[in-house]
Amino acid sequence: MIDLHCHILPGIDDGAKSAKESVRMARVAAKDGITHIVATPHIRDTLHPVNFLKQYVTKFNEALQKWQIPVEILYGADVYAMLPPKEVRRYAINNTQYILIEFPYTHISANASDILFNFKMHDLVPIITHPERIPSVIRDPETLFPLLSGDVYVQITADSLTGNFGEQIQECAFYLLQKGAVHFIASDAHSAIVRGPVLSEAAKIATKIVGKEKARMLVEDNPLAVISGKHIHLAPL
Ligand SMILES: [Fe+2]
Repeated sequence: MIDLHCHILPGIDDGAKSAKESVRMARVAAKDGITHIVATPHIRDTLHPVNFLKQYVTKFNEALQKWQIPVEILYGADVYAMLPPKEVRRYAINNTQYILIEFPYTHISANASDILFNFKMHDLVPIITHPERIPSVIRDPETLFPLLSGDVYVQITADSLTGNFGEQIQECAFYLLQKGAVHFIASDAHSAIVRGPVLSEAAKIATKIVGKEKARMLVEDNPLAVISGKHIHLAPL
């Protein structure tokens, strides 16, 4: 499996607090059957230099090889939607056209379709992160659907499906899955233990809702297409 969203780099944001914790997270991921993790620090108030992030990823991969942990870390970021696409295109996943876009914690912005269009105008393919955890989407999930026409995709958090965020978020995640409005499941892990980098449990739950083949697409085929810069298998609504 491939985890597209994980705060595994140490000491950059509210994710892993130390290099030890990052290695612990990688071990947890490997044990769960995850082969690739996109390291996605928050890009919100601080626009971290790309070279700095890429060097971090390289050093981390060297450490993982040394420790014989069979996981590869790839470059990416969790980018705040309000930032200008021109400024943040350098944070696209693994130097592809795909970019993780995070809306405000409370609501999907009223001008969300303009924001997404603007990203597309800059030859980027936006992936909206965890809308099922946004209160305005929980209240009315269908407000999300008009945004998904064209090349706009959705990633939900594994722990939303398992119920670790509570019933309302779980229900919303189930609903979006049933409606075909989900293209990726990712961990959005911030540590090894609490909401760790684990996808298998959520994939099992997704299997019950959408069947084995589609569930596999959410954690394997589609994320593989993203990190390879190819078209994904499940179309948006
Ligand atoms: Fe995140």
